[in-house]
Amino acid sequence: MGISSILSDIKNDRNSNNKNLKDNSPPLPKIDSKEFQKVLDTRRSVRVYTDEEIPEKIVNKCLENALKAPTSSNLQTWEIYWVRSKDNKDKLIKACFSQPAAKTAKELFVFVARPDHWRRNNDMMLDYINTRDNPPNSVLNYYGKITKYAYNQGFLNLFGFLKKLLIFFLGPFRTIPREPTSFSDMKVWSQKTTALACQNFMLSMRAYGYDTCPMEGLDSTRIKKILKLPNKAQICMAISAGKRENKGVYGKQLRFDNKIFIKEV
Ligand SMILES: Cc1cc2nc3c(=O)[nH]c(=O)nc-3n(C[C@H](O)[C@H](O)[C@H](O)COP(=O)(O)O)c2cc1C
Repeated sequence: MGISSILSDIKNDRNSNNKNLKDNSPPLPKIDSKEFQKVLDTRRSVRVYTDEEIPEKIVNKCLENALKAPTSSNLQTWEIYWVRSKDNKDKLIKACFSQPAAKTAKELFVFVARPDHWRRNNDMMLDYINTRDNPPNSVLNYYGKITKYAYNQGFLNLFGFLKKLLIFFLGPFRTIPREPTSFSDMKVWSQKTTALACQNFMLSMRAYGYDTCPMEGLDSTRIKKILKLPNKAQICMAISAGKRENKGVYGKQLRFDNKIFIKEV
Protein backbone atom coordinates (compact mmCIF):
# COMPACT_ATOMS: atom_id res chain seq x y z
CA MET A 1 0.00 0.00 0.00
CA GLY A 2 2.04 2.95 -1.29
CA ILE A 3 1.62 6.41 0.12
CA SER A 4 1.14 7.87 -3.34
CA SER A 5 -1.80 5.51 -3.93
CA ILE A 6 -3.30 6.68 -0.62
CA LEU A 7 -2.82 10.32 -1.59
CA SER A 8 -4.66 9.72 -4.84
CA ASP A 9 -7.36 7.79 -2.89
CA ILE A 10 -7.77 10.84 -0.65
CA LYS A 11 -8.09 13.07 -3.70
CA ASN A 12 -10.61 10.74 -5.34
CA ASP A 13 -12.58 10.38 -2.12
CA ARG A 14 -12.93 14.14 -1.69
CA ASN A 15 -13.55 14.54 -5.41
CA SER A 16 -16.23 11.90 -5.92
CA ASN A 17 -19.37 13.39 -7.39
CA ASN A 18 -21.59 10.96 -5.46
CA LYS A 19 -23.70 10.14 -8.51
CA ASN A 20 -24.74 6.78 -7.11
CA LEU A 21 -25.96 7.95 -3.72
CA LYS A 22 -29.39 6.80 -2.58
CA ASP A 23 -31.81 9.33 -1.16
CA ASN A 24 -31.46 8.55 2.56
CA SER A 25 -32.71 11.72 4.15
CA PRO A 26 -36.10 11.70 5.89
CA PRO A 27 -38.49 14.56 5.05
CA LEU A 28 -37.36 17.69 6.87
CA PRO A 29 -39.72 19.09 9.52
CA LYS A 30 -40.64 22.78 9.48
CA ILE A 31 -38.31 24.65 11.81
CA ASP A 32 -39.26 27.61 13.93
CA SER A 33 -36.14 29.71 13.52
CA LYS A 34 -37.45 32.26 16.05
CA GLU A 35 -37.37 29.62 18.79
CA PHE A 36 -33.82 28.65 17.80
CA GLN A 37 -32.82 32.31 17.85
CA LYS A 38 -34.26 32.60 21.37
CA VAL A 39 -32.14 29.67 22.51
CA LEU A 40 -29.02 31.25 21.03
CA ASP A 41 -29.77 34.72 22.37
CA THR A 42 -30.48 33.58 25.91
CA ARG A 43 -27.55 31.18 26.33
CA ARG A 44 -25.16 32.85 28.69
CA SER A 45 -22.38 31.63 30.87
CA VAL A 46 -24.04 31.36 34.26
CA ARG A 47 -21.92 31.61 37.37
CA VAL A 48 -24.57 31.26 40.06
CA TYR A 49 -27.40 28.74 40.04
CA THR A 50 -30.53 28.26 42.15
CA ASP A 51 -31.23 25.09 44.16
CA GLU A 52 -33.61 23.77 41.50
CA GLU A 53 -32.73 20.25 40.31
CA ILE A 54 -32.51 19.38 36.62
CA PRO A 55 -34.75 16.37 35.88
CA GLU A 56 -32.61 13.37 34.99
CA LYS A 57 -34.58 12.87 31.77
CA ILE A 58 -33.56 16.32 30.58
CA VAL A 59 -29.91 15.76 31.44
CA ASN A 60 -29.96 12.50 29.50
CA LYS A 61 -31.60 14.17 26.51
CA CYS A 62 -28.98 16.95 26.50
CA LEU A 63 -26.18 14.39 26.73
CA GLU A 64 -27.68 12.52 23.79
CA ASN A 65 -27.89 15.79 21.88
CA ALA A 66 -24.25 16.53 22.66
CA LEU A 67 -23.29 13.36 20.82
CA LYS A 68 -25.26 14.45 17.75
CA ALA A 69 -22.59 17.06 17.03
CA PRO A 70 -20.61 16.63 13.83
CA THR A 71 -17.39 14.70 14.35
CA SER A 72 -14.32 14.48 12.16
CA SER A 73 -14.42 11.33 10.01
CA ASN A 74 -17.31 10.37 12.30
CA LEU A 75 -14.72 8.85 14.61
CA GLN A 76 -16.37 10.26 17.75
CA THR A 77 -13.18 10.67 19.74
CA TRP A 78 -14.96 12.17 22.73
CA GLU A 79 -16.24 11.15 26.14
CA ILE A 80 -18.55 12.89 28.56
CA TYR A 81 -18.30 12.30 32.28
CA TRP A 82 -21.40 13.18 34.29
CA VAL A 83 -19.87 13.58 37.72
CA ARG A 84 -22.54 12.46 40.18
CA SER A 85 -21.06 11.11 43.39
CA LYS A 86 -20.67 13.66 46.18
CA ASP A 87 -17.05 12.71 46.66
CA ASN A 88 -16.15 13.15 42.96
CA LYS A 89 -18.19 16.36 42.73
CA ASP A 90 -16.35 17.86 45.70
CA LYS A 91 -13.03 16.92 44.15
CA LEU A 92 -14.04 18.32 40.76
CA ILE A 93 -15.20 21.61 42.28
CA LYS A 94 -11.81 21.90 43.98
CA ALA A 95 -10.07 21.09 40.69
CA CYS A 96 -12.09 23.94 39.12
CA PHE A 97 -10.59 26.29 41.71
CA SER A 98 -13.93 26.32 43.59
CA GLN A 99 -15.21 28.91 41.13
CA PRO A 100 -18.88 29.82 41.77
CA ALA A 101 -19.99 28.36 38.43
CA ALA A 102 -18.84 24.97 39.71
CA LYS A 103 -19.63 25.41 43.42
CA THR A 104 -23.28 26.38 42.95
CA ALA A 105 -23.97 24.02 40.03
CA LYS A 106 -26.64 21.36 40.29
CA GLU A 107 -24.82 19.08 37.85
CA LEU A 108 -21.25 18.90 36.64
CA PHE A 109 -19.87 17.36 33.47
CA VAL A 110 -16.42 16.94 32.00
CA PHE A 111 -16.05 16.75 28.24
CA VAL A 112 -12.95 14.81 27.30
CA ALA A 113 -11.23 14.56 23.93
CA ARG A 114 -9.86 11.08 23.25
CA PRO A 115 -7.38 11.34 20.37
CA ASP A 116 -6.01 8.03 21.64
CA HIS A 117 -9.34 6.36 20.77
CA TRP A 118 -9.21 6.96 17.02
CA ARG A 119 -8.06 3.43 16.19
CA ARG A 120 -10.55 1.69 18.49
CA ASN A 121 -13.37 3.75 16.99
CA ASN A 122 -12.08 3.21 13.46
CA ASP A 123 -12.20 -0.56 14.13
CA MET A 124 -15.75 -0.20 15.46
CA MET A 125 -16.65 1.66 12.29
CA LEU A 126 -15.17 -1.08 10.12
CA ASP A 127 -17.05 -3.73 12.14
CA TYR A 128 -20.25 -1.77 11.65
CA ILE A 129 -19.67 -1.30 7.93
CA ASN A 130 -18.96 -4.99 7.50
CA THR A 131 -22.33 -5.90 9.05
CA ARG A 132 -24.07 -4.13 6.16
CA ASP A 133 -24.98 -5.85 2.91
CA ASN A 134 -22.71 -4.72 0.11
CA PRO A 135 -20.92 -1.95 1.97
CA PRO A 136 -19.84 0.73 -0.53
CA ASN A 137 -16.20 0.37 -1.57
CA SER A 138 -15.59 4.05 -1.03
CA VAL A 139 -16.57 3.72 2.64
CA LEU A 140 -14.49 0.57 3.13
CA ASN A 141 -11.57 2.34 1.49
CA TYR A 142 -12.04 5.42 3.68
CA TYR A 143 -11.94 3.53 6.99
CA GLY A 144 -9.68 0.76 5.74
CA LYS A 145 -6.98 2.99 4.25
CA ILE A 146 -7.48 6.74 4.35
CA THR A 147 -8.15 7.22 8.06
CA LYS A 148 -5.27 4.88 8.86
CA TYR A 149 -2.95 7.08 6.82
CA ALA A 150 -4.39 10.29 8.23
CA TYR A 151 -4.54 9.52 11.96
CA ASN A 152 -1.75 7.01 12.47
CA GLN A 153 1.44 8.78 13.61
CA GLY A 154 3.38 5.56 14.25
CA PHE A 155 5.80 4.50 16.96
CA LEU A 156 7.64 7.58 18.31
CA ASN A 157 5.76 9.64 15.74
CA LEU A 158 7.91 8.17 12.96
CA PHE A 159 5.04 7.86 10.51
CA GLY A 160 3.98 11.41 11.35
CA PHE A 161 7.51 12.57 10.59
CA LEU A 162 7.43 10.74 7.26
CA LYS A 163 4.16 12.51 6.42
CA LYS A 164 5.76 15.84 7.35
CA LEU A 165 8.63 15.15 4.93
CA LEU A 166 6.17 14.22 2.20
CA ILE A 167 4.25 17.43 2.79
CA PHE A 168 7.46 19.43 2.69
CA PHE A 169 8.46 18.03 -0.71
CA LEU A 170 5.03 17.61 -2.36
CA GLY A 171 3.14 20.45 -0.70
CA PRO A 172 4.39 23.22 -3.00
CA PHE A 173 3.16 21.32 -6.07
CA ARG A 174 -0.08 19.65 -5.07
CA THR A 175 -3.04 19.88 -2.74
CA ILE A 176 -2.24 17.62 0.14
CA PRO A 177 -3.66 17.07 3.66
CA ARG A 178 -1.26 18.84 6.05
CA GLU A 179 -2.43 17.72 9.46
CA PRO A 180 -2.34 15.72 11.64
CA THR A 181 1.32 14.71 11.67
CA SER A 182 1.93 14.53 15.42
CA PHE A 183 0.14 13.74 18.63
CA SER A 184 -0.19 17.49 19.21
CA ASP A 185 -2.11 17.73 15.94
CA MET A 186 -4.23 14.77 17.03
CA LYS A 187 -5.12 16.63 20.22
CA VAL A 188 -6.32 19.64 18.22
CA TRP A 189 -8.22 17.33 15.87
CA SER A 190 -10.07 15.61 18.68
CA GLN A 191 -10.62 18.79 20.72
CA LYS A 192 -12.41 20.43 17.77
CA THR A 193 -14.92 17.64 17.63
CA THR A 194 -15.38 17.55 21.41
CA ALA A 195 -15.93 21.32 21.60
CA LEU A 196 -18.80 20.95 19.13
CA ALA A 197 -20.39 18.40 21.48
CA CYS A 198 -19.99 20.95 24.29
CA GLN A 199 -21.89 23.57 22.34
CA ASN A 200 -24.67 21.13 21.41
CA PHE A 201 -24.97 20.28 25.10
CA MET A 202 -25.12 23.90 26.26
CA LEU A 203 -27.68 24.91 23.64
CA SER A 204 -29.80 21.87 24.49
CA MET A 205 -29.78 22.76 28.19
CA ARG A 206 -30.95 26.27 27.27
CA ALA A 207 -33.66 24.90 25.00
CA TYR A 208 -34.97 22.88 27.95
CA GLY A 209 -34.91 25.95 30.22
CA TYR A 210 -31.61 25.34 32.03
CA ASP A 211 -28.25 27.06 31.98
CA THR A 212 -24.60 26.20 31.77
CA CYS A 213 -21.09 27.53 32.13
CA PRO A 214 -18.15 26.14 30.18
CA MET A 215 -15.01 26.08 32.30
CA GLU A 216 -11.39 25.71 31.40
CA GLY A 217 -10.29 27.38 34.58
CA LEU A 218 -9.34 24.01 35.98
CA ASP A 219 -6.47 21.70 36.84
CA SER A 220 -6.55 19.14 34.05
CA THR A 221 -4.07 16.77 35.71
CA ARG A 222 -6.16 16.58 38.88
CA ILE A 223 -9.33 16.06 36.84
CA LYS A 224 -7.72 13.20 34.92
CA LYS A 225 -6.85 11.65 38.26
CA ILE A 226 -10.42 12.02 39.56
CA LEU A 227 -11.80 10.45 36.39
CA LYS A 228 -9.03 7.83 36.21
CA LEU A 229 -8.07 8.94 32.72
CA PRO A 230 -4.79 8.18 30.98
CA ASN A 231 -2.32 10.91 30.18
CA LYS A 232 -3.27 10.99 26.48
CA ALA A 233 -6.89 11.90 27.27
CA GLN A 234 -7.44 15.65 26.94
CA ILE A 235 -9.79 17.63 29.13
CA CYS A 236 -11.76 19.79 26.71
CA MET A 237 -13.81 21.63 29.31
CA ALA A 238 -15.89 21.11 32.40
CA ILE A 239 -19.48 22.30 32.09
CA SER A 240 -21.68 23.19 35.02
CA ALA A 241 -25.44 23.23 34.73
CA GLY A 242 -28.52 24.30 36.66
CA LYS A 243 -31.19 26.98 36.73
CA ARG A 244 -29.78 30.49 36.64
CA GLU A 245 -29.97 32.66 39.72
CA ASN A 246 -31.21 36.20 38.81
CA LYS A 247 -27.77 37.61 39.45
CA GLY A 248 -26.02 34.57 37.99
CA VAL A 249 -25.12 36.29 34.71
CA TYR A 250 -22.35 38.81 35.01
CA GLY A 251 -23.61 41.74 32.91
CA LYS A 252 -24.75 42.19 29.33
CA GLN A 253 -23.34 39.95 26.64
CA LEU A 254 -20.36 41.70 25.09
CA ARG A 255 -19.20 40.97 21.57
CA PHE A 256 -16.86 43.21 19.58
CA ASP A 257 -17.97 44.56 16.23
CA ASN A 258 -18.80 41.69 13.86
CA LYS A 259 -16.75 43.43 11.16
CA ILE A 260 -13.57 42.60 13.06
CA PHE A 261 -14.29 38.90 12.83
CA ILE A 262 -16.43 38.25 9.75
CA LYS A 263 -14.47 38.59 6.54
CA GLU A 264 -15.89 38.32 3.07
CA VAL A 265 -13.13 37.37 0.72
C1 LIG B 1 -13.44 27.19 26.47
C2 LIG B 1 -14.08 28.13 27.46
C3 LIG B 1 -13.63 28.18 28.76
C4 LIG B 1 -14.25 29.00 29.70
N1 LIG B 1 -13.84 28.95 31.00
C5 LIG B 1 -14.53 29.63 31.94
C6 LIG B 1 -14.23 29.47 33.31
O1 LIG B 1 -13.35 28.73 33.71
N2 LIG B 1 -14.96 30.17 34.21
C7 LIG B 1 -15.97 31.01 33.84
O2 LIG B 1 -16.61 31.60 34.72
N3 LIG B 1 -16.28 31.18 32.54
C8 LIG B 1 -15.60 30.49 31.59
N4 LIG B 1 -15.93 30.61 30.26
C9 LIG B 1 -17.05 31.46 29.87
C10 LIG B 1 -16.61 32.73 29.15
O3 LIG B 1 -16.04 33.60 30.07
C11 LIG B 1 -17.85 33.31 28.47
O4 LIG B 1 -18.28 32.42 27.48
C12 LIG B 1 -17.56 34.67 27.84
O5 LIG B 1 -17.26 35.61 28.80
C13 LIG B 1 -18.75 35.16 27.02
O6 LIG B 1 -19.92 35.19 27.82
P1 LIG B 1 -21.25 34.39 27.41
O7 LIG B 1 -20.90 32.92 27.37
O8 LIG B 1 -22.24 34.69 28.52
O9 LIG B 1 -21.68 34.88 26.07
C14 LIG B 1 -15.32 29.82 29.31
C15 LIG B 1 -15.75 29.78 27.97
C16 LIG B 1 -15.15 28.94 27.08
C17 LIG B 1 -15.67 28.88 25.66
